[in-house]
Amino acid sequence: MGTKPVVIGVSGGSGSGKSSVSSRILETFEGLSVMLLQQDYYYKNQSDLPLEERLKTNYDHPLAFDNDLFYNHLVTLIEGGSIEKPIYDFTNHTRSNETEYEVSRDVIIVEGILILDDKRIRDLMDIKVYVDTDDDIRLARRILRDINERGRTVESVIKQYVEVVKPMFHQFIEPTKRYADIIVPEGGYNQVAIDLLTTKIGTILNQK
Ligand code: CTP
Repeated sequence: MGTKPVVIGVSGGSGSGKSSVSSRILETFEGLSVMLLQQDYYYKNQSDLPLEERLKTNYDHPLAFDNDLFYNHLVTLIEGGSIEKPIYDFTNHTRSNETEYEVSRDVIIVEGILILDDKRIRDLMDIKVYVDTDDDIRLARRILRDINERGRTVESVIKQYVEVVKPMFHQFIEPTKRYADIIVPEGGYNQVAIDLLTTKIGTILNQK
């Protein structure tokens, strides 16, 4: 790989459909070299804290993320290098001892709730996408996802949503919409937006 990778940022609130937008891009460029770097994996390491302390952490605040590591890894990938990507465990609320070896690719999709908040990270992106989905839809998706995949109860999801996720979304995540090049309503189901996005990525790749 001789040329600089194309970096696509996919942001938006929790449950907005970022993962489905990223998957649709990954599917479209299947066969080419494409990778996904999720900000979720870069939550700070809390393995030295007991579980009851980890449960109190505000995971929707910019300071919950190890953005220095996230930035350094992204720069390394853009320069064509390889990284040991951290692995995050949502059930135990901490980073695993394991890491995953990742080499650089032609297209790097960077996904997460607060990827547009840090200017250093934002400035590394060629295209910035914000997935804009109504709060009630996002809450409904989050209840199903957190119970099925992250070991939570309905009560805990609703309590966390009302007390933390919603206020943090309005304070920190939604304001980053202003940095987006493209705002996509309804995520991966928006076929027109996905087509526009993948066509643009294809154009950038052809120019390189
Ligand atoms: N989170 C949590 N417990 C942790 C760490 C994170 O509940 N130990 C939650 C945060 O509250 C944050 C969310 O994880 O709101 C971030 O993931 P989210 O954006 O919901 O997931 P994705 O699948 O990446 O996004 P989407 O639903 O948009 O596809």
